[in-house]
Amino acid sequence: MEIFLDTANITEISHILRWGIVDGITTNQKIFQNEKGVDPLTRVQEICKMVYPRPVSVESNGTSLEEILSDARKFSKISDNVVAKVAMTGNGNGLEAISILSGEGIKTNCTIMMNLNQLILATKAGATYASLFYNRAKDSGEDPIQTIKQFTSWNCSNGYKTRLIVGSIRSLNDVSNVAAAGADIITIPYKIMMSMPYHKKTEETIQEFDMAWKDFLSGAAHHKTNSK
Ligand code: E4P
Repeated sequence: MEIFLDTANITEISHILRWGIVDGITTNQKIFQNEKGVDPLTRVQEICKMVYPRPVSVESNGTSLEEILSDARKFSKISDNVVAKVAMTGNGNGLEAISILSGEGIKTNCTIMMNLNQLILATKAGATYASLFYNRAKDSGEDPIQTIKQFTSWNCSNGYKTRLIVGSIRSLNDVSNVAAAGADIITIPYKIMMSMPYHKKTEETIQEFDMAWKDFLSGAAHHKTNSK
């Protein structure tokens, strides 16, 4: 399973990159909203360079075929690790765009999907990645854990190469549930990522071991003094 970071923030990316666990980056328009004042193309270029050759998803705007294709082609020219993120629009234009982009050799991430039918269509249209929105799906009454299991099995038995990204992660439990369900990739916001290494009992045990070492060292020093 791979871990992507769901952010466009340079400080966040450079911090978590140092942990050695980041396999890629996902962004969207709301994520860029948090980066007020930056030039989006320059920021994408900067992120692509930082994480190269790992993939960086950048989302097209609009719902017409022309708008989607124009953004996707523009973004994918920035660097060869850009993945064109295309929404599963209800009018089918997202699928058409993915089919065209895939024919042009542009990697795609079909996004904002809530159920198995949408994932199947994205896969058949040639998406490199298919993004299921875990909590937004739950909000709308879907069962994303079941969707992850069903899609993984369908994808494998039909021999497709599309990789399932699960996003819209809001808690530590979401991460473990999605991983256990068999997602190929989880994209995690910085705040959740930052709380993943922590466990209260781990911290207590570290303290206990540190104290034991100090006690051991003072015992050794005492022994040395007495044996002089
Ligand atoms: C994934 O690709 C999306 O960028 C993200 O996970 C969406 O999350 P949200 O539901 O918090 O907007």
